[in-house]
Amino acid sequence: MTASLGVAVIGAGMAGKAHAAAYRAARTLYAPVLPEIRLVAIGDVYAPLGEETAQRFGFERHVADWRDIAAADDIDVVSVVVANALHREIVEGLLAAGKHVLCEKPLSDTIEDARAMAESARIAAESGTLARIGFSYLRAPGIAFIRRLIDDGRLGDVLHFSGRYWTDYACRPDTPISWRYQGPAGSGALGDVGSHLSYIAEYLCGPVREVSGGRFHTSITERPKPVGQVVGHGGGAVSDETAPVTNDDYATFNAAFERCVGTIEVSRVAAGHPNDLYLEVFGSQGAARWSQTNPSAVEVMLHDGQADLAGYRTIPLGPAHPHYTGGWAMDAPGVGIGQNDLFVHQARAFLEEVAGIPAAESLPRCKTFDDGVHNMEFLSAVAESAASGSSVAVPSAAPGSSAAPAPTTAPDQEATR
Ligand SMILES: NC(=O)c1ccc[n+]([C@@H]2O[C@H](COP(=O)([O-])OP(=O)(O)OC[C@H]3O[C@@H](n4cnc5c(N)ncnc54)[C@H](O)[C@@H]3O)[C@@H](O)[C@H]2O)c1
Repeated sequence: MTASLGVAVIGAGMAGKAHAAAYRAARTLYAPVLPEIRLVAIGDVYAPLGEETAQRFGFERHVADWRDIAAADDIDVVSVVVANALHREIVEGLLAAGKHVLCEKPLSDTIEDARAMAESARIAAESGTLARIGFSYLRAPGIAFIRRLIDDGRLGDVLHFSGRYWTDYACRPDTPISWRYQGPAGSGALGDVGSHLSYIAEYLCGPVREVSGGRFHTSITERPKPVGQVVGHGGGAVSDETAPVTNDDYATFNAAFERCVGTIEVSRVAAGHPNDLYLEVFGSQGAARWSQTNPSAVEVMLHDGQADLAGYRTIPLGPAHPHYTGGWAMDAPGVGIGQNDLFVHQARAFLEEVAGIPAAESLPRCKTFDDGVHNMEFLSAVAESAASGSSVAVPSAAPGSSAAPAPTTAPDQEATR
């Protein structure tokens, strides 16, 4: 194993800072098997933010041009955390320079670019260079536990799935326009938060086969232009000029998966719900539900013959559940898990793979770019369904892709984690 790995993060915005913090903490989890992790560079064209982020998270330097990261001899591993339309150029430049790349979701802003990126990843793999997409919720202990309840039959046959990802970052008409609001139908709330819920649904319900009933709505059609830099979902001073919002504030659809049918609803204008990812799985022997607003617990109900106790019970997550023991500095039951922790587990999983630690001794691997393409094909079928009013088949994941892994792959990973 290499003695150390040098790390960089390109994009110091909302999610970029989560990646920077995650690389700092990744080595502190589980057994101390990772090599030294050197925090080398933050890359952001907006120098004040880049400099501040490098200082704040203890990275050695800030650079404004990502090409300096591609050319740097002291960097091995790079997260790409910029607007979706910028992913392809930067990712391909990094892979060509031999850097291991972790790209944020969705893989790109167009399927054509995403497919080209998957081809670049295949070429890079020939010389041992990794290209991965994180899909951070696949390591959420509560979601992994629900998957375990499905796999071991305790929920019985899965009957149907319901998922929503309601956010409200765009519910105010004076929130300024940014890259998030511009693109074709499906690149708004669906691409932003639906890209998470879609892979989670496949993880629990099996590969998606068909979508129908797609509907998009743009609730706020014009937004003011910002006066300064917009970071993440931020507000700030705006000018009198406006620009059109071209993509979806709201999206909903039905889907048929291998194991069951389900309904998904996403929003960025759901006032009062800043980050409300909620899912519920109904089975012939019971049901389970999990929410991002209380991610340290899972609610489960089972038909266990006690009629007077029938109903949901709350299970605080702890050492009996996947990925928990050693996964936090304090890993006692009920200490609390947040979304930032999922970025730490994602960074850890990526570094474990780069460092050559076997999958059976690691957190569930980050996904391949083929999985990222499949995720976009799923969302694209929703857009097609919304445009045509018809059911649309979703292509199967590419051969070799790990999208929607078979139910039997999880337990051996859970044995060590
Ligand atoms: N996994 C998650 O939970 C999650 C959450 C939020 C965002 N994301 C994803 O992360 C990515 C970034 O989203 P965000 O909300 O952090 O965006 P953001 O707008 O907050 O930040 C993007 C940053 O990129 C910088 N930038 C722009 N062009 C650049 C370039 N050429 N080189 C270097 N830096 C450049 C900007 O100055 C800005 O600081 C998107 O793909 C988004 O979908 C994922």
